[in-house]
Amino acid sequence: VFNDSASASKSVAKAIAKCIQKKQYENKPCILGLATGSTPKGVYAELVRLHQEEDLSFKNVISFNLDEYYPMAPNSVNSYVYFMNELLFKHVDILPENTHIPDGTLSKENISDYCSNYEQKIEDLGGIDLQILGIGGNGHIGFNESGSLQNSKTRLVALDHTTRLAASKDFGGLDKTPRTAITLGVKKIMEAKSVILMAWGEGKSNIIKASVEGVVTNQVPASFLQEHRDATFVLDKSAASKLT
Ligand code: F6R
Repeated sequence: VFNDSASASKSVAKAIAKCIQKKQYENKPCILGLATGSTPKGVYAELVRLHQEEDLSFKNVISFNLDEYYPMAPNSVNSYVYFMNELLFKHVDILPENTHIPDGTLSKENISDYCSNYEQKIEDLGGIDLQILGIGGNGHIGFNESGSLQNSKTRLVALDHTTRLAASKDFGGLDKTPRTAITLGVKKIMEAKSVILMAWGEGKSNIIKASVEGVVTNQVPASFLQEHRDATFVLDKSAASKLT
């Protein structure tokens, strides 16, 4: 628990840098699972600073983003492709061919094969070394909404009303907000060697309590992380305020 999200974000960026550098030392790729949304913005800003001012290189990084809205054009300002490019990728030396974000332009009949392929690529690389997560107000991780199973695969999902409501300000209204998304399944998240879930602010305090201290239930997918071998919740004081 950190005093504020700025210091917490720096600490998460440091953990990511450490993972990258450890793998560099071993001459291996570092497989990062990345999240979007407002929560990781400070982490990406700090990673850009570490690249620009402290020579952190991303040349050995292979990244897999958790999710993308569906349908979604990659050049839309609301796409997670745009988000990742603007906040991280174009400011560091990661190789474009090493970045992966679920494709929001697929035709429906191709989604299932595409998702199996996305998982296969992760498996072929030996799995995710470090998975970064935010958390939805309903406890979703990625877009694994309430009801998602612990062994759920990467797939097309219907977004909860609360998730769409939270996103609707970015889309200029609920009617313009996508109803579906492609998300990495809970299984691949649970298979990541390490997981860091971040949450900032009072608004996340109830769901953080439920996830950390409540029962493990698919109603709160983040609660599955209680059973992960190396999961850390990085919180600011407000998000942690309801923990006993
Ligand atoms: C985004 C993602 C979501 C967000 C969550 C929190 O890639 O997977 O689970 O992490 O909706 O969003 P923010 O950070 O905007 O509160």
